[in-house]
Amino acid sequence: MGAEQFRLPMMKGKPLIMRHETLMCWLYVSTAKAPPRSQDDALIYLQAKNRNHRDALTGYLHREGKYYVQYVEGPPESVNQLRARIDEDPRHHDLRVLHEGPVARRRFADWDMALTRAPDCTFRDFQARRGGGETDISKASARDILAFMEEAVQTGQARCVSQMAG
Ligand SMILES: Cc1cc2nc3c(=O)[nH]c(=O)nc-3n(C[C@H](O)[C@H](O)[C@H](O)COP(=O)(O)O)c2cc1C
Repeated sequence: MGAEQFRLPMMKGKPLIMRHETLMCWLYVSTAKAPPRSQDDALIYLQAKNRNHRDALTGYLHREGKYYVQYVEGPPESVNQLRARIDEDPRHHDLRVLHEGPVARRRFADWDMALTRAPDCTFRDFQARRGGGETDISKASARDILAFMEEAVQTGQARCVSQMAG
């Protein structure tokens, strides 16, 4: 067995998953105060762009109608610190946790935050294509939302926050 097989995944020259690294994830849905494509959304993307890589956080943020849905993964300390900031953020309310806990590996290892938004990419269309299930993202299960996010990344519909201009 060659050394090649032990090579760790890299992101911007740094090993992304350390062996024995503990990883945590957090998935929530919340209600935005401002309409889609507002100044609020632009600033949130900028904050994620500026901080997530530094804090070794990866994940996914989707905006559909009045809802934000976000999946965050990374070292427990970083996830908990971001969680405390997001919990207190006045740009949204009614935050409901859909899933949280340890994870064996990152789902979005190459994304310091993958982004999608309606109407370009919607959970509603994803569910319709699958032929059924809950189409209202605010009532959907964690399992269906994660399947939607993974498909959007795999099919090239998601953009990476770090590649956004500005
Ligand atoms: C829906 C939503 C998603 C957010 N996602 C992130 C994120 O991924 N990374 C981040 O650093 N801040 C994110 N924020 C912003 C944080 O709540 C916070 O304002 C920001 O990290 C700056 O915190 P500070 O002012 O304490 O430095 C998000 C806010 C909202 C409302």
